[in-house]
Amino acid sequence: MRILGIESSCDETAAAIVSDDGEVLADVVKSQIALHAPYGGVVPELASRDHMRAIAAVIREALARAGTTLDGIDGIAVTARPGLSGALLVGAQVAKGIAWARELPLVAVDHLVGHLLAVFLRRGGKGVPWIAPPTEGAPGQESPMSYPFIALLASGGHTAIYRVDGSDQKSIRELGATRDDAAGEAFDKVAKVLGLGYPGGPVVDRLAAKGDAGRFAIPVPMARKDSLEFSFSGVKSFVARHVAEHGKPSTEADVADVCAGFQRAVVTSLVKKAVRAALAEKVPGLVLGGGVAANRELRETAARACARAGLLFAVPPFASCTDNAAMIAYAGSQRLVRGERDAFSFTTATRTSLERVTRKGGGPRPGP
Ligand code: KG4
Ligand code: ZN
Repeated sequence: MRILGIESSCDETAAAIVSDDGEVLADVVKSQIALHAPYGGVVPELASRDHMRAIAAVIREALARAGTTLDGIDGIAVTARPGLSGALLVGAQVAKGIAWARELPLVAVDHLVGHLLAVFLRRGGKGVPWIAPPTEGAPGQESPMSYPFIALLASGGHTAIYRVDGSDQKSIRELGATRDDAAGEAFDKVAKVLGLGYPGGPVVDRLAAKGDAGRFAIPVPMARKDSLEFSFSGVKSFVARHVAEHGKPSTEADVADVCAGFQRAVVTSLVKKAVRAALAEKVPGLVLGGGVAANRELRETAARACARAGLLFAVPPFASCTDNAAMIAYAGSQRLVRGERDAFSFTTATRTSLERVTRKGGGPRPGP
């Protein structure tokens, strides 16, 4: 089965062709970063309009790169939630239009499920392997990706730990999420107060590598032992307060030290809790996902922590971590092969359809 995936939930217009075994035949992502950069964040109205402008060409490009046409497509998967309302509507309506005209089966996909299953994408015939802890100086052995696993999903809009037992939504359970800012959002806000532009993750990552994380040691947020919830607003405020009191750091070395201190606090918190979740759930391994999984310190720290804890570790390549339509196509393909379909009347939503146990600004949701 060959699936056309369409993604327009935020600031990337994306289309991909993926087979149901996860092989990526084409993966086109048109970023709107330049459009939103002058505003220091995504402007929803501009995002919707740019999706409208770009989406047909992006889909055509994906088909061309896969060396096929709509005749070679067996089904369509589109992001229906969570995301910006207007942005989601563009992809959803285009998907419905094509599915209707071509009489193709259509499924609506939760963007977060896409991120969680992105580790099963295969590029150039090669899948993402599990890496076992190294033994006596020898590097860790690789083995094929498998369920169950703990996934740490950290992006600009979401940060949570999930237990993933299979590809259907009933098999995915949130164990803890952020109570306030997402990790990527904290990177973006810190970059903004330091005057580093948007998006902040990649530039903070680059500067932090040159900095001294010990100079501005920022307390690790939510370090309470028994909680799998995160909080990143305190770390962000710490940097904002520092800038308010002392002014923007003036030399590149000073900026790098602030970035390093901030990144260390965020990464420590993410990794500690993810590893604790994997051990508590007694699953073999930990998978990283979402845009923040592009962060080098996060990848390295998580790999070391898993090795120490005797856990398998897997992290998809950058192209599978940041927003893309291949992960949507793959998540949708798993529903399509089970014979599932969505009616043309499906709607979009700003919130995820995955059950959440963490409430923004508070503790666990009260029981029913
Ligand atoms: O998953 P993604 O592409 O989009 C969302 O669904 O949000 O994630 C984007 C987020 C942004 O906040 C960006 O600053 C962050 O991921 N990001 C990074 C890095 N690259 C992207 N954060 C830390 N380090 C990076 N290298
Ligand atoms: Zn995303």
